[in-house]
Amino acid sequence: MAGIGSERGAVELCKGINGLDKVVLRGPRGSSAEVYLYGGHVTSWRNDHREELLFVSSKEIFKPPKAIRGGIPICFPQFGSNGSLEQHGFARNKFWSIDTDPPPFPTNSKSFIDLILKPSEEDMQKWPHSYEFRLRVTLGTGGDLMLTSRVRNTNADGKPFTFAFAYHTYFSVSDISEVRVEGLETLDYLDNLENKERFTEQGDALTFESEVDKIYLGAPTKIAILDHEKKRTFVLRKDGLPDAVVWNPWDKKAKTMTDFGDDEYMHMLCVEAAAAEKPITLKPGEEWKGRLELSAVPSSYCSGQLDPQKVLQSS
Ligand code: BG6
Repeated sequence: MAGIGSERGAVELCKGINGLDKVVLRGPRGSSAEVYLYGGHVTSWRNDHREELLFVSSKEIFKPPKAIRGGIPICFPQFGSNGSLEQHGFARNKFWSIDTDPPPFPTNSKSFIDLILKPSEEDMQKWPHSYEFRLRVTLGTGGDLMLTSRVRNTNADGKPFTFAFAYHTYFSVSDISEVRVEGLETLDYLDNLENKERFTEQGDALTFESEVDKIYLGAPTKIAILDHEKKRTFVLRKDGLPDAVVWNPWDKKAKTMTDFGDDEYMHMLCVEAAAAEKPITLKPGEEWKGRLELSAVPSSYCSGQLDPQKVLQSS
């Protein structure tokens, strides 16, 4: 079927927790990914050693209409509370469909799935726009995870619409105090903990010792998340997504979240490729594309010297 990778075993449609539909993608050497149709939500990404690379809370109960806590929620058409819709928009709370007839979109991998979200009449009352949101999730032969979102304005009334977007990725880390993020130093950011006031980041890689909730503006296409203890580096590449949001609730906020364990903040970090500050405007017939590519590579920590490209080449 078009829209589903074709090789036997590479793509399987099955039931996940609470009987929710999910798609399992499998790579040739043991890697895998899982995507729930609820939310168009990636909930698992494993490397060739079958180690889980994404964080999902142990308190998550997979009960719609609540969004899944962890994995890669899709924030659309609103980011955060910046608008009149529910926090982070409605896409993560909707049942997506498998797109059996997607427009041509080349891939080298046999392991991919195309999903689609279109508004229901009820949705149109809250956000009066007609759109097609196509999400392709691909597991590369080397175990990389690629997400491509294509949003098209299908309004018949000639009206443009505006939206914000984020891949709200929860990375699994061994110990947050051992993690560094490279690529965001010296950038300007809006601090959600300081009324979205604008500051400039200092020259060093980011490290974590308290709650963080920042929107980095004009972030580079490549960001590295170094897990010193695990000797693993995540390399995030993004396209069409100018911002990068970094979030960890830390202990106090964690205790207020019913779907998040009190100590789980130690083992996760959200680094979100986003178009959050300046929303995207589409005229009828126009399409926007936003792409995220994640790889996990072994790293030997070496302060300030890490070039994610070199890490990738040497792996
Ligand atoms: C981040 C926001 O992207 O998501 C935070 O910057 C927010 O402000 C966090 O707290 C989690 O949001 P939610 O709606 O999934 O609890």
